[in-house]
Formats: sequence, C-alpha cells, structure tokens
Amino acid sequence: MALENENLPAPPRHIAIIMDGNGRWAKKRGLPRTAGHSAGAEAFRRIANYCRSLGVEYLTVYAFSTENWKRSQEEVGGIMLLLRKYLEEALLDMEKNRVRFRFFGDLSRLSPQLQKLCHDAENRSVSYDVQVNFCLNYGGRDEIVRAARAFAQEVAEGKRRPEDLTEGLFSNYLYSAGVPDPELIIRPSGEMRTSNFLLWQSAYAEYVFMDVLWPDFGPEDLDKAIAEYHRRSRRFGGV
Ligand code: FPP
Repeated sequence: MALENENLPAPPRHIAIIMDGNGRWAKKRGLPRTAGHSAGAEAFRRIANYCRSLGVEYLTVYAFSTENWKRSQEEVGGIMLLLRKYLEEALLDMEKNRVRFRFFGDLSRLSPQLQKLCHDAENRSVSYDVQVNFCLNYGGRDEIVRAARAFAQEVAEGKRRPEDLTEGLFSNYLYSAGVPDPELIIRPSGEMRTSNFLLWQSAYAEYVFMDVLWPDFGPEDLDKAIAEYHRRSRRFGGV
C-alpha cells in the first residue's frame, strides 16, 4: 500500500473549490434549497477529510459570495446556520483535528455571533499546518479593490512609494496574504465560469469543471480532478 502511494505524483499543494449545485440537487429531490446546502456542508466535510489524508496542505472553498445576499432571507439564514454549526463543532474538536482556519472576505456584514466564531477559529488555530480557507462574503474584485485601497492609504501616509508596488507586495494586501496560489480550482455542477472567485490567485491555476453536483461530490471525483490536473502540462507561459 505504502509503495503504491509512493508511486503516485504528489497532489496539488493547494486546491480550491466552488461548491456549486446545491440548489439543483435539492430541486431534483423536491426538497427546499436549504436541504441542498446542508448536503453541501456534508460534502465539504467529506472532501476536507479526504484532502487531509492525501496530504493537500491548503483547501479553499467558496462558501458565500458578495452576491449571495440577493437570495431569500431563508436561504441566506440557512447557510449562515450551517456555518455556525460547523464552526461550533470545529472549535470543540480544534485540538484533536489540528486544522488551521482562515476566512477570506468582509466578515463585518455577518452576525456578531458568527464573526466571533470566525475570529476564535482563526486565533485558536494559528499554529496548525493543514489549512482550510473559507471564502465568506467574498468577491474577487472586492478583494483586489480593498487591497489597492490599503496600499494607496499607505502611500498617502508616506509609508510606501507607488514604485514599491510589485506583484509579490500586492499579494500581501489580499485576504490570502501568505497563502500560496491554488494549483487546481474545481467547479462542479456543469457551470463554466469563475464567478469572481480568487481572481488574482488563479492566474496560473488549472481549472477542472465537472458535471457532478456538489452534494454528490465524493473522493472519487476529487481523484478524477487531480488526475486531470496531472495530465495537463503546466508551463506557466513558457515552452
Ligand atoms: C452554490 O450552490 C452554493 C452556495 C451559494 C452555498 C455553499 C454553502 C455550503 C455548501 C454550506 C456552507 C457550510 C459549510 C460548513 C461548508 P447553488 O445554491 O448556487 O446551487 P444551484 O446553482 O444549483 O442553485
């Protein structure tokens, strides 16, 4: 077994996923959309555990976008409740699971209770290595605008000069500061858009689009996506 694993190419260090298709999954079963999100949260648990067993170091998931507020109050509330429950459990099991949590997005619009859970999860897990990044009230353009604003503010205060700005320095102003870019981005559910997800960080990522709906997504689907990633040649614009 161990020998077989040694022959497998290393998995990507950082995988990012757009957890899409929860609503359609529920509709197909005549269930409310919130049931789809609940099944989606289970799929997340499954995949997070599997990523850990494979040795993936960073898993980033799109849990709630800046556009998702347009959904019904019931649906938004349902997703927030799932996140709250998940984080409450994660905080109880923190020392056992040793997963580091980060949150990418503007948390100020979340309930004070959820904000506190996010901050506690981040603060209590800083020393752990395997990392899950939740994109929450996240938008890629919004992230870039905020980073530009923060840099401009430092220029206005005389702390930086415009010519100091490089791609590397700019990355430090993003929510993802310090996290390597994802090598693989997976979008299930048959949609082929980036939907404002990790716009800056995805510059050299391989995208794998799959037909399976997120609540049905299992370890075998992740294996397929990783195999596809390994099949593609990654030349970063070179030859
Ligand atoms: C997109 O599917 C999914 C979301 C907007 C929410 C994702 C949230 C979760 C999976 C739960 C989060 C909680 C944890 C613990 C990870 P969609 O609703 O747009 O599906 P559709 O395109 O079929 O309508």
